[in-house]
Amino acid sequence: MESNKLDELWHRYEAFKNRGLKLDMSRGKPEKAQLDLSLPMLESDYNFISEDGIDVRNYGDTTGIPEAKRLFGELLGIPANQVIVGGNSSINLIHDALTRALICGPMEGDTPWARIPRVKFICPVPGYDWHFHMCETLGIQMLPVQLGASGPDMEEVERLALDPEVKGFICNPMYSNPSGITYSDQTVDRLAAMKTAAPDFRIIWDNAYCVHHLYENDRDSLKNIYEACAACGNADRVLMFASTSKITFAGGGISAMGASPANIARHTALLTYQLVCYDKLNQLRHTRFLPDRAAVEAHMAKHAQIIRPKFEYVLEVLDSELSGIGSWSRPKGGYFICYYAPDGCARRIVELCREAGVTLTPAGSPYPGGFDPKDSTIRIAPTLPPLSELKLVMELFPLAVKIAAAEKYK
Ligand SMILES: Cc1ncc(COP(=O)(O)O)c(C=O)c1O
Repeated sequence: MESNKLDELWHRYEAFKNRGLKLDMSRGKPEKAQLDLSLPMLESDYNFISEDGIDVRNYGDTTGIPEAKRLFGELLGIPANQVIVGGNSSINLIHDALTRALICGPMEGDTPWARIPRVKFICPVPGYDWHFHMCETLGIQMLPVQLGASGPDMEEVERLALDPEVKGFICNPMYSNPSGITYSDQTVDRLAAMKTAAPDFRIIWDNAYCVHHLYENDRDSLKNIYEACAACGNADRVLMFASTSKITFAGGGISAMGASPANIARHTALLTYQLVCYDKLNQLRHTRFLPDRAAVEAHMAKHAQIIRPKFEYVLEVLDSELSGIGSWSRPKGGYFICYYAPDGCARRIVELCREAGVTLTPAGSPYPGGFDPKDSTIRIAPTLPPLSELKLVMELFPLAVKIAAAEKYK
């Protein structure tokens, strides 16, 4: 780049910095207007009796009230009696599932994973940082596999699954965090059918964005992995998770796991003395507000109306300002846009943004150990700031990209 052009970029960057802004785009949180959509849920009619006649203010129904099982059964695509409804976090349910496998074994009679020398999980990348931190905390060695437009490199996944120390695969298969991609039917079929050396191999199917479409008539769809696994005689292979964190209140919703009858029986047995029951008041509140899939879809259309203009604005700026500099995703749903910077520039871009008052998700966080081998992936989370603030961020972001790229590729 000519030096006068670079000088001009720096000049604009310094002018932005001098405005002294403080904007946080580090996490995929809903904005206030989205949270307000669920306020009617808090209005109570003082009828606390669930369908099975339980007073939800009291102990009981450890694995969830029937109407909440039915709702998540519809969302996950599994019979209601194969659902455990949890508390306010699906991540917590995933952590519990992994901890149980490590301490007790996935099924009665299986060797607890913590008793074998090494446990490895296949981790598609870029992926969700929380999955990776969880694996790290629990001593699970992560094997990154590159994601493409239709899912992970399945040849590599199938090769790795032949190692008996590889006990699982953890992913976010729809409108994936942060890449935005959705696994193709063929990917789902191969995951369901593949040979695994470990008979107790588990797929952790974190379907956090299963109803989070941005467009009414242009949506991704995800094949039902439980049915695909069952058709191959591998019904026990998959544990599916979802929550209402980004449907109602983030951190104040309800969550669920869906799985085979044998997995549900195992987890129910291990859950029995973990707690007497989850918060059934919240389960009832949720199911009165959103009784079925149709109600959830209508509610999600309201979310889409709020966040779609933000996604479109970010894409508009990337298209107009950064044509030929890096590449980016065009998700049809979920919470993120992924910007792939020229190699070796992601950390610098995030640093430049931070120094000018805009906090982005740390570069590297979509990779195990925070190590992005190309130093390229940046997760943009457009939902939290109102559009007026997002416009400021998108004033800075292209400047930071151009400066970082010019520094690197002088
Ligand atoms: C892929 C994915 N899974 C799970 C979560 C968190 O879900 P919960 O609030 O139910 O723990 C998030 C939140 O960002 C997410 O992106």
